Amino acid sequence: MRMRYIIGNWKMNGLAADLEKIIQISKLSNRTLQPDLTVVVCPPATLLPGAGEIHDVSIGGQDCSPYEKGAYTGEISVSMLKELGVTYCIIGHSERRAAHGEKSSIVARKADVLISAGLFPIICVGEPAESRNRDDAIGFVTRMARESLPQSDGPFLLAYEPVWAIGSGRAASVGEISAMHDALRNLAGPQTPLLYGGSVKPENAGALAEIRNVDGFLVGGASLDPETFIKIAAQLNEAERNCERASV
Ligand code: PGA
Repeated sequence: MRMRYIIGNWKMNGLAADLEKIIQISKLSNRTLQPDLTVVVCPPATLLPGAGEIHDVSIGGQDCSPYEKGAYTGEISVSMLKELGVTYCIIGHSERRAAHGEKSSIVARKADVLISAGLFPIICVGEPAESRNRDDAIGFVTRMARESLPQSDGPFLLAYEPVWAIGSGRAASVGEISAMHDALRNLAGPQTPLLYGGSVKPENAGALAEIRNVDGFLVGGASLDPETFIKIAAQLNEAERNCERASV
C-alpha cells in the first residue's frame, strides 16, 4: 500500500465564511475516504489561522519566504506558518514563477527552509506551451526540477503542472503525464510522491489516477467545491484498490 495525496490549491479565493468548506471537506473525507489518502487544503494565508484548527485535514500554505525573519515586507516565514498548524507548503507554482519572478534557485532554498522546520514542500514544475510544442517538455521540466530540488535530504513532494493545462480546462494526456512522471521518478527517487496538476476534474481523475507514477493530484479550480474535490479524491482511493488487486 502506498500513500496517495489530494491537495487543493485555493489560490486567491476564499473569505472567512469559506472555512465552512474546509469543515465540509474534513467531514466528507472522514465519511467516504480510505486512510491511505492524505487530504491537504491550501487556502489563502488569511484563512490559515482558522483552517489550522480544523481536524482531519492537513493544511498547506501557498508560498513562504526563503528567509527566517527580518525586513521582508509582505512575506510570511516558515515559522509563522508552522505556528498556525500548517504542515505542507506549495512552492514554485507557475503563477508565482511568472508573476513574481520566482526562480528555481529560490524555490530550492524555500524547500530547504521548509524541510529544516519539519514541513513538507510541494515543489511545482511545468513547461509552457512553446516547450511542449517544440517537443522539449521532458528536458525543460527535468532541468527545472533539478534546479528546484532541496540540497538537504528531507522529504518533499514534486508536482508536475504543465503551464498550458492550468486553469485551461485541458489536462495533459495520459501519455504526456506518464512519460513525464517516469522521468521525474528517475530524478526524485522511489520515495518522493509525484503529483499531477492542471485541469484535474472528476471526469478525468479516474484515468489519470491509474498512471503508474502518479501518486496524487494538485487541484486548483475544482478544489473550491468540497463535493467535487472529494469526488476526485475518491478516484485516487479507487485506483489504489485496483493497484492492490492487480498485485495479488
Ligand atoms: P487547475 O489549477 O486545477 O485550476 O488547473 C491547478 C493549479 O494551479 O495548481
